[in-house]
Amino acid sequence: MADFVGAVDQGTTSSRFMIFDHDGNEVAKHQLEHDQILPRPGWVEHDPVEIWERTNVAIQNAVRSAGISASDLAAIGITNQRETTVVWDPRTGQPYHNAIVWQDTRTDRIVSALERAGHGDLIRRRAGLPPATYFSGGKLQWMLENVDGLRKAAEDGNALFGTTDSWVLWNLTGGPNGGIHATDVTNASRTMLMDLETLDWDDELLGLFGIPRAMLPKINSSSHPDAFGTSRTSRPLNTPVPITGVLGDQQAATVGQVCFARGQAKNTYGTGNFLLLNTATEPVRSEQGLITTVCYRFGDEPAVYALEGSIAVTGSAVQWLRDQMRTIRDAAESETLARTVDDSGGIYFVPAFSGLFAPYWRSDARGAIVGLARYHTNGHLARATLESICYQTRDVVEAMAQDSGVHLDVLRVDGGVTANDLCMQTQADILGVPVSRPVVAETTALGAAYAAGLAVGFWRTKEELAEHWHESRRWEPQWTEEQREEGYAGWKKAVQRTLDWVD
Ligand code: G3P
Repeated sequence: MADFVGAVDQGTTSSRFMIFDHDGNEVAKHQLEHDQILPRPGWVEHDPVEIWERTNVAIQNAVRSAGISASDLAAIGITNQRETTVVWDPRTGQPYHNAIVWQDTRTDRIVSALERAGHGDLIRRRAGLPPATYFSGGKLQWMLENVDGLRKAAEDGNALFGTTDSWVLWNLTGGPNGGIHATDVTNASRTMLMDLETLDWDDELLGLFGIPRAMLPKINSSSHPDAFGTSRTSRPLNTPVPITGVLGDQQAATVGQVCFARGQAKNTYGTGNFLLLNTATEPVRSEQGLITTVCYRFGDEPAVYALEGSIAVTGSAVQWLRDQMRTIRDAAESETLARTVDDSGGIYFVPAFSGLFAPYWRSDARGAIVGLARYHTNGHLARATLESICYQTRDVVEAMAQDSGVHLDVLRVDGGVTANDLCMQTQADILGVPVSRPVVAETTALGAAYAAGLAVGFWRTKEELAEHWHESRRWEPQWTEEQREEGYAGWKKAVQRTLDWVD
């Protein structure tokens, strides 16, 4: 029996391949960044060919550095940045356009027209999502309307749509020579095109966006022994390996954090923050601006749902300090710089670069730094940036408590920013709840590996997976209640300014 499981993690800024052993420990990984293409304010694109190329190299290099061969992999899982929309020609494998990334706001007019025409409630009810630029449906409509000849090609079966899981899967399973065109329920639940209850594409929703069914991938369970095919025998692997798990990255992290019980939640700190609360087999409808999403579906078991608080800009606000403001050289320096001051000196930074997602859903909002005085330094700005990550999380935790009645007694965290000790302490202070990070912080790839491994019997039960989870670090709240409430009241006022800007 093969001793390892592999996972592709095709993220917003990079693609990586990770290899895990039977105890869920990392054996090897390789990661490569790809370009962020920013043609206009609010537009964000990726080159799908570059993404596939880098994924290929990451797979080859990780396998080589593990010192194993492809036949040592029992299965492969795929996890991905969600919503990002790719359309390609199945005859050549060439994309018709750059991928339109989840952060891109060009479809603002498309989604506000849907709301104005009174279709918002149907989308909310059936897809569990508010009409927003974030999701794939509007991005796909935009491509069909703006790329010459694409609609006709789509109707003729010569254009395929997919989120990046489908793009990687299709290429990995053979591309133009028999590649599998499929996705899973979690990714499909981010399109505004799938009915959350039937778990199938919905004709009425497809009609609203004018999308031909012929271009859509087949929707499968997230973990299945034969729904996603096997890897092709040419590059990157020379042996066919079954691909048996596919999950959107935030759902994969929820699985990697073994949040299998109703009421368990995790928060992932990446480019954005994504807090998911397992609501078991019941799709809870939000009254507070959260979204209802499929958390995972294993084999033929019923789907498990989640309430999600999606925050567009958190880690990418730190990148903005590095790349645009040039106040730091690397992300780690945000902590050193923030520690040069005792607090943010009363300033707030609301990084609404892609509008505001949960719980506000205002794609017209724009960022603001408020409360500035001559006294303030880069240190205060760095601190306010870290606080903005934590205050945005508090916004969604509050919404979640109101929607579900669940009051967290601990928040499980993962993702790059959790290496920032000051940010995690601030998170515990702002929430008034302990924050806990597991030993294996790469929960996204681990979750995809778990889904793949469960399907082939590499792991047998969810309980077995839960035994792999161990806490590595816990942060306890230190602020007084008064500090906490005063700070949060200031944050709410600052958010209001970013909304007033466009009112
Ligand atoms: O919904 C967007 C999310 O899936 C992106 O995650 O980690 O690639 O920034 P990440």
